[in-house]
Amino acid sequence: MNIYQKIFNLNNKIVLITGSRGLLGEKILKTFRKLNAKIIAVDYIKNNKEFNFIRKNRELSFNADMSNTAHVKLITKKIQSHFKKVDVIINAHQIKPEGFLSNKPEDLNEDIWKRIIDVNLTGTFLSCKYFGKLMFKQKKGSIINFGSTYGVVSSNYNLYNKLKFGNPIAYTASKGGISSLTKYLATHWAKKGIRVNCLIPHGVANNHSAQFKKNFEKMSPLGRMMEKDEIIGPIIFLSSDASSYCTGTDFLVEGGWTAW
Ligand SMILES: NC(=O)c1ccc[n+]([C@@H]2O[C@H](COP(=O)([O-])OP(=O)(O)OC[C@H]3O[C@@H](n4cnc5c(N)ncnc54)[C@H](O)[C@@H]3O)[C@@H](O)[C@H]2O)c1
Repeated sequence: MNIYQKIFNLNNKIVLITGSRGLLGEKILKTFRKLNAKIIAVDYIKNNKEFNFIRKNRELSFNADMSNTAHVKLITKKIQSHFKKVDVIINAHQIKPEGFLSNKPEDLNEDIWKRIIDVNLTGTFLSCKYFGKLMFKQKKGSIINFGSTYGVVSSNYNLYNKLKFGNPIAYTASKGGISSLTKYLATHWAKKGIRVNCLIPHGVANNHSAQFKKNFEKMSPLGRMMEKDEIIGPIIFLSSDASSYCTGTDFLVEGGWTAW
């Protein structure tokens, strides 16, 4: 094995992915399959509040609500009996409840606010708290929390020019919280050998309207939206020993959006 193969090697690593059926989560899951990792996949089927799981070859797959402590504890138990440990945790879940696309803070319903904070922020905390402990014994691990440029800068209403939607204040608050939580954990768990980083993608192309694309391209320094394949390089880097000196970072993959 040469030096490049060694530092990027993820063969047989146990990788947990939340939001594994999402746009990026699914891409990440398929990537780790190709890299011969063992996978723990967690997602939540809308309106299916039943906790359940399937075990197939080298994979555990859960239907679970990441904002529900009981569900997270049950997943932890199953991992303990099946794999015993986790090497990489990728928190890529997010919720978009009905009313999500409102961009008027003065009109945002409190129930929507609470649900977004509960799933995005508390769900990420619960994942780090319970699954993170499965890294303590081996004194090694990498946690990647998905943030957003909207946790770094405000959602810019020019992006939604001539459109009837926006991005809600609760999303921004939850993602800003994830960046902060990441830095706290990175410093408090550094001596335990656990690295914690916040990966921040932006504007991943997904059948957006022509108007939205036009607005985006005008505002983006790279002049285009992100392709979902472009998450693979950063994910492999942050998951592997290639990033052994990176912790507590906001790792921006946003085409220069916040650089203006
Ligand atoms: N796609 C983008 O343009 C973009 C930009 C910036 C940041 N992000 C962040 O990257 C991450 C991945 O984005 P995406 O586009 O793949 O999101 P997505 O909306 O496609 O997928 C999110 C997944 O989370 C799952 N989920 C929802 N509620 C859950 C719960 N309570 N418990 C467990 N799972 C739950 C959903 O079922 C879904 O499969 C998210 O955290 C998102 O905020 C995405």
